Amino acid sequence: MYILGISCYYHDAAAALLKDGILVAAAEEERFTRKKHDSSFPINAINYCLKSQNITSKDIKYVAFYEKPFLKFERLLSQHLEMFPLSMKVFLSSLPNWINEKLRVPKIIKKKLKYRGDVLFIDHHLAHAASSFLVSPFPEAAILTVDGVGEWTTTAYGIGKGNDIHLMKEIRFPHSLGLLYSAITAYLGFSVNNSEYKVMGLAPYGNMNRQTSPYYPKLKKVIDVKEDGSYRLDLGYFVYHYKQKMPSEKLCQLLDGPVVKKGAEMPSRHQDIAAALQLVFEDVMFKMLNHVYQETKCKNVVLAGGCALNSVGNGKILQNTPFENIWIQPNATDGGTSIGAAFYVYNSILGHPRKYVQQDAYLGPQFSSTEIKKFLEENKIKYTSFENQKELIKNTAKIIHNNHVVGWFQGRMEWGPRALGARSILSNACNPDMKEILNVKVKHREKFRPFAPVVCEDDALKYFECDTPIPEPTGFMLMVYPIKKEWQTKIPAVTHVDGSGRLQTVRRHQNPLYYDLIKEFGKLSGIPILINTSFNIRGEPIVCTPYDAYKCMMGTGIDVLVMDKYVIWRKDNPQHRWDSEKYAED
Ligand SMILES: [Fe+2]
Repeated sequence: MYILGISCYYHDAAAALLKDGILVAAAEEERFTRKKHDSSFPINAINYCLKSQNITSKDIKYVAFYEKPFLKFERLLSQHLEMFPLSMKVFLSSLPNWINEKLRVPKIIKKKLKYRGDVLFIDHHLAHAASSFLVSPFPEAAILTVDGVGEWTTTAYGIGKGNDIHLMKEIRFPHSLGLLYSAITAYLGFSVNNSEYKVMGLAPYGNMNRQTSPYYPKLKKVIDVKEDGSYRLDLGYFVYHYKQKMPSEKLCQLLDGPVVKKGAEMPSRHQDIAAALQLVFEDVMFKMLNHVYQETKCKNVVLAGGCALNSVGNGKILQNTPFENIWIQPNATDGGTSIGAAFYVYNSILGHPRKYVQQDAYLGPQFSSTEIKKFLEENKIKYTSFENQKELIKNTAKIIHNNHVVGWFQGRMEWGPRALGARSILSNACNPDMKEILNVKVKHREKFRPFAPVVCEDDALKYFECDTPIPEPTGFMLMVYPIKKEWQTKIPAVTHVDGSGRLQTVRRHQNPLYYDLIKEFGKLSGIPILINTSFNIRGEPIVCTPYDAYKCMMGTGIDVLVMDKYVIWRKDNPQHRWDSEKYAED
């Protein structure tokens, strides 16, 4: 039995396919259309999912959709009536999309897919909850979902047992921890639903001390948090419930200045605001989680929703709550709800027992050696081929050790926002200049943003102060931990200003080639840690195909592309005329 899960029309459209309760394929639409956070109907992602199993839409038993559009529209109407006439402009501008797309989802699905079966609409936070719990290793777990907003819900908690999910309580729009984070993101001149992680990266440059932070007491005025973690925002500080903007004049006064212009320098005031936001965010999350523990008395917890991508907060959860085990959906934002909706149908509605645990994120398209060779030959690209995998690894490790930047393209593309060793740019973490080299040659990122280390799981505790045993979400780059003092200066390229690292751990069974490469690099450098950053330039989705990867290398300063068993040097091939820096966006 095939079930197709779909999320779209808000941001991060995606599709996922289950075969008899096993997740066999999943991808975001942006990877195919090359439009970051593409929200349009994920026809390319769906076609990929179907093709991966050699089936057509006639083979699909159910389509599961990630929210209830009419309920969401009800919220929009009620928001509009409450704020009329201030909300008129934004309401009218959103109507065509609602009428043409969002309220016609079954028709669109049937038409675009030539599908005649049922479309089941799953409550958005249930889809988030299912995306984490039903694929987690836990038979029973407490569940917390926190995002911007679904239909009405912005935060929910409950418990999962077997194939059943029971959400017990919720917080409703316009009160939203996710929207608070987004509003401050917008205030600091970054793009909403995209750059929240930049604010998280900026925070450690500011004052992170609750006693002395100048903005922590100010931001506490914006959100009233109770001991059980329930909260209400003071809506005077926001306008998102009736405008296409987020911060209000009152928020600007509170934060001592107007909304920051895009691309502006980040003086200490901005850094302190980012720091205060992170502190308030953690306060609320830990209070909520402690309360959820009291209510459920379950030692396992699973998280989903955009706020579950706050890896800095995630790394502190087990120390600040009684929970002993944690699992987080690697695609915790709305893309992941395509998985959740599909599993909710299979396990919770149809009542099938769970038989799948998500152990890695390699769910996207892959390309065979033959296909890649054909691409190289057709485009007259010069390459070397390594028939022996050990030799390929030795050679690549040597290249990285010689401080070259490597585009690493292997196997199935990752699911979720992080590159995890299938479409990654890899380089030498021990080189103090490497952050600068990567920024100048490839990524063109804001200077304050850290690069991430990757380490084999059996080496992680030597270098990082992880929770023990190391939680599985660390494999999805979802937990930030301190780097041990003695190693910080030895891996400067991945040590953030506060001494932390957003590490990825790899277990060999997850990705043997990647694991062996890191170990091999360790033999040369003495430290088995690489820099792992996503294979793309800033503002571009992660590369998907051999063409995307080759184009990205030729337009940037990536020195060499290691694609399947083929090694392609940029210097050996004529450079494209496009300038990646010009194309780097937010
Ligand atoms: Fe969501």
